Amino acid sequence: MQLKDKVALVTGGGEGIGKATAVLFAEQGARVAVLGRHRENLDPVVEQIQKDGGEAMAVCADISDPKEMQAAIAQIVERWNRLDVVFANAGVNGVWAPLEELEPEEWDNTLSINLKGTFLTVKYAVPHLKKAGGSVIVNASINGTRIFSNTGATAYSSSKAGQVAFTKMVALELAPWKVRVNVICPGAIESNIDDNTERRDLDKVQMPVEFPEGNQPLEHAPGKARQVAQLVLFLASDLSDHITGTEIWVDGAESLIKG
Ligand SMILES: NC(=O)c1ccc[n+]([C@@H]2O[C@H](COP(=O)([O-])OP(=O)(O)OC[C@H]3O[C@@H](n4cnc5c(N)ncnc54)[C@H](O)[C@@H]3O)[C@@H](O)[C@H]2O)c1
Repeated sequence: MQLKDKVALVTGGGEGIGKATAVLFAEQGARVAVLGRHRENLDPVVEQIQKDGGEAMAVCADISDPKEMQAAIAQIVERWNRLDVVFANAGVNGVWAPLEELEPEEWDNTLSINLKGTFLTVKYAVPHLKKAGGSVIVNASINGTRIFSNTGATAYSSSKAGQVAFTKMVALELAPWKVRVNVICPGAIESNIDDNTERRDLDKVQMPVEFPEGNQPLEHAPGKARQVAQLVLFLASDLSDHITGTEIWVDGAESLIKG
């Protein structure tokens, strides 16, 4: 029970890495606020946690909307009176396209969810985290941190690189309050994120490279959401109580072979 008596927020908790983490956090004793835009994704996760004897609540909000995020955090603290762990996970791949074809509003949409959304999530959580210390884990990617060959994924990679700088800035700022801030960088993980990715004319700019032994040397397969959740649990728990302001890759060496 690494998170006994803790209250945790997981954004984008309705599916994928967020869902796996919400479930694992609850297994480890946390009360979990599962945040996302669509109630129909959140309720089944809350029900699953409750069925297994845990405690959870669904919180509907768009992470890129300041008012909604302020209200969302207030709702959690009103219910459980504290906030200890924040997994700033929600994000989108957005549009992947040649630079000349990438529209300004497409750039804004990706940055507004992935980077501004991370800022808003942490900003409104901070006053509560400061009360007793806590842990923030940001979900970035191998893209923009070790891999720069996914040509066309420029907005996405820039948002993920921005999350790493954000993490380091805030880790130092919040250290006096014993609030730790770290960032994870997953490689390919099985989830639905590709369903929401728009790829346009990438053949014009991509430089294909073949990896005959596979993309992930460690396991020869994409990672599972649960494997990422286990890293998030480590960073959320006191097992990592001297670790802050750092990135950790969770990719089966994918970024080393591709990077
Ligand atoms: N799956 C991968 O291969 C992979 C690799 C590296 C990094 N990541 C990162 O992991 C995170 C989670 O990805 P996933 O693969 O679990 O994807 P996913 O699409 O399964 O889950 C993402 C969740 O975030 C939610 N979301 C999106 N925009 C939101 C918004 N504005 N407000 C609130 N919720 C919003 C979605 O509705 C969804 O439930 C993302 O930040 C992604 O960039 C994923």
